[in-house]
Amino acid sequence: MIQIQEVTKQFKDKKKYVTALKHVSFEVKQGEVLGLLGENGAGKTTLLRTIATLLDPTTGQVLVGGFDTVKQSAEIQKKIGVLFGSETGLYDRFTARENLEYFAMLYGLGKHETKVRIDELSKMFGMRDYMDRKVGSFSKGMRQKVAIARTLVHNPQIILFDEPTTGLDITSSNVFRQLVHQLKREGKTIIFSSHIVEEVSMLCDAVAMIHKGELVYHGSLEQLYEQESSRDLNFIFMSKLVRGEDDYAI
Ligand SMILES: Nc1ncnc2c1ncn2[C@@H]1O[C@H](COP(=O)(O)OP(=O)(O)OP(=O)(O)O)[C@@H](O)[C@H]1O
Ligand SMILES: [Mg+2]
Repeated sequence: MIQIQEVTKQFKDKKKYVTALKHVSFEVKQGEVLGLLGENGAGKTTLLRTIATLLDPTTGQVLVGGFDTVKQSAEIQKKIGVLFGSETGLYDRFTARENLEYFAMLYGLGKHETKVRIDELSKMFGMRDYMDRKVGSFSKGMRQKVAIARTLVHNPQIILFDEPTTGLDITSSNVFRQLVHQLKREGKTIIFSSHIVEEVSMLCDAVAMIHKGELVYHGSLEQLYEQESSRDLNFIFMSKLVRGEDDYAI
């Protein structure tokens, strides 16, 4: 379970304060797939980085599996897998296999376990042909697949993906979608941000919409469809943003 409680995050940018998140509160249940929707600059990456213990909230608290992201970050880091957009965190001079082996070693996986896991992931992502080539020469999509595999190498219970399908072709995006279904069947908790509304409607149980740092909706997709008398998530998203502006314009 992930509990986000009254989280506000301010950045100091050249003596000016930018408030990226304003009193955001919601929970993600164990085994739930939650989609994070919001315009550019809404605060999605900031929220994911906060959950991943990479940023401390200015005020408020985030608990991951009962552990506090500020005071107990080491406990949380063992349980989570994170992938942030274009920051693949891969080493260009290593092959795909060496990259995955390196991250498996950091997480303390044994030799046999590492081999089995890497074989599994390379098969799943159709990467077997290029596992022994250096990542430096890979296309964007190939790199992204290795990066997703890296995120999963230690079999984390909680997975955070920031725009995971950006740069992937149709086939690889579909592989990612199948992967989310499989991870869900395994009972993993997943939060991912996306600008692709269809992806969120296809994969998620719940959705959180952020607009200019504020949470304008959180709940199950089914509840939302019922409440709005529509199953057009794109339309609902846009109307939530407009209503958000009205609510906060005072
Ligand atoms: N390190 C930082 N220093 C100053 N401001 C920051 C920093 N990181 C984020 N911000 C600001 O916080 C706000 C939210 O940014 P964030 O990256 O979380 O948005 P996002 O929803 O992920 O957007 P996108 O869809 O474009 O990725 C923006 O105004 C951004 O400029
Ligand atoms: Mg972002």
